[in-house]
Amino acid sequence: MAGVAWWKTAVIYQVYPRSFMDANGDGIGDLDGITAKIDYLVDTLGVDAIWVSPFNKSPMADFGYDVSDYTDVDPIFGDLDAFDRLVARCRESGLRLIVDWVPNHSSSEHPWFGESRSSRDNAKRDWYTWADPAPDGGPPNNWIAVFGGPAWQYDELTGQYYLHSFLASQPDLNWRNEGLKAAMLDTLRFWLDRGVDGFRMDVVHFAMKDPELRDNPVFDAPETLARSLGEYDKLVHLYDRGHPDIHPMLREVRAVLDQAEAGSGSAKYSVGEIHLLDWDEWASYYGASNDELHMPYNFAFVSGPWTAEWARNNVEELEAALPEGAWPNYVLSNHDEHRLVSRLGWDRSALAILMLLTLRGTPTLYYGDEIGMLQADIPPERQQDPWGRRVAELGRDGERTPMQWDASPEAGFTQPGVEPWLPIVDPDRLHNVAAQLGVAGSRLEFHRRLLALRKLSPALQLGDYQTIPDVPEHVFAYRRTFDDEVLSVFLNMGEGPVELDVSGTILLGTDPARVGAIESLRLQGLEGVIVR
Ligand code: NOJ
Ligand code: CA
Repeated sequence: MAGVAWWKTAVIYQVYPRSFMDANGDGIGDLDGITAKIDYLVDTLGVDAIWVSPFNKSPMADFGYDVSDYTDVDPIFGDLDAFDRLVARCRESGLRLIVDWVPNHSSSEHPWFGESRSSRDNAKRDWYTWADPAPDGGPPNNWIAVFGGPAWQYDELTGQYYLHSFLASQPDLNWRNEGLKAAMLDTLRFWLDRGVDGFRMDVVHFAMKDPELRDNPVFDAPETLARSLGEYDKLVHLYDRGHPDIHPMLREVRAVLDQAEAGSGSAKYSVGEIHLLDWDEWASYYGASNDELHMPYNFAFVSGPWTAEWARNNVEELEAALPEGAWPNYVLSNHDEHRLVSRLGWDRSALAILMLLTLRGTPTLYYGDEIGMLQADIPPERQQDPWGRRVAELGRDGERTPMQWDASPEAGFTQPGVEPWLPIVDPDRLHNVAAQLGVAGSRLEFHRRLLALRKLSPALQLGDYQTIPDVPEHVFAYRRTFDDEVLSVFLNMGEGPVELDVSGTILLGTDPARVGAIESLRLQGLEGVIVR
């Protein structure tokens, strides 16, 4: 739509590059694999942008979220020429390209860290956070790493601890150091110059901590809750992330994007991975004058009871928290969360997708959800995720298995006879693109119809949001309005049928047979429709 930044009307699709398509037959997905599937993304599915999880050079302790060179491609995924081919193919087909940027920590194998740890007076010493041991020789404070254990690692060579909010092989960068800041901002410019349209910024709110490194308070949880809390959640994360200095830092990041936008005449975009439950704190990451992130990811729908009341509250609270002029967004799943279908069941997951693609805001889809891929149960000997190896239930391999393109043993992901890096999980050989394409009622066709409708509808892309009140208890209903286009969405989140006094024309629903004029509306349990 003319005059509107692309990222407001776009549907974004997350590609986990290890698992999307393997072009060279080593069992691991790569950049050329993504390039080979652009037609699928644009013409078959109909998405507008892809976010590709990290493909930077990395020892892969956290599958690319441990970067050892911010301006190079890991050989597993290809090289810079392969990246340029991907950019060129995206350009040709009008697909926007968003890359992952990991500003909070590098790999311990990054040469910067090698220098930093080499001596206390190395010029890059302060590019990371080093601190003296506590008087008893233990870690400098009580901070805990997200992946478990103390957030501090003792380094014999210089007799100090370094901070790592995640793995010990992911030391936290020190954004208070001007040299580090300049070097990191340059990494953004590098990818912008190479043609990217935006960045997904990994745990970016972690980048600023308390400069005094004070102890986090202990969470005073009710006893029943306290027993179920993991080590990390037992503390209130007051000092180890989200220090107010994060806001000036994000304004500097934004300035780099704005400059590239002005230089290229094409809108640039940033979305931060910011898991925060407090809406006002979350919304502060847009910036007081919309001058920080274009949006922080909204994870409200990633877990919860999936009742109508809960869904309505999520949306109304978000709409109320948004600063003037800020644009909302929604997401249901990603490479850190269990697969949507396995979390919600088949029918409820369809309802969730109908909601995702009809609410006001930019939606992000996760690869494979469009064919209803299932959470995989990975046998212990094949577990790859460092988190899962530490605490089995927390493993994320199950949501990262190879994309299923066809019903062959390798699912069309890699060459025949090659063992993919994680097993294929398609028990009935129906959760794949080939089995679903053109098949009425398939999950893939549901996505294709919905995405096509959205593309033609200014109301769905840009319209106002209004809750429709006075509907039956288990129904979440809302209206989207743009000029004279008014669409209403009715989602029956209950198990039983409901009757509504609604007339008009059903454009699309979770039941593919439900289209056409209606005088009244009876919805089956877990059924949803869009009515004009
Ligand atoms: C969040 C990413 O989504 C996750 O996959 C990663 O392990 C951590 N950040 C650490 O970078
Ligand atoms: Ca490969």
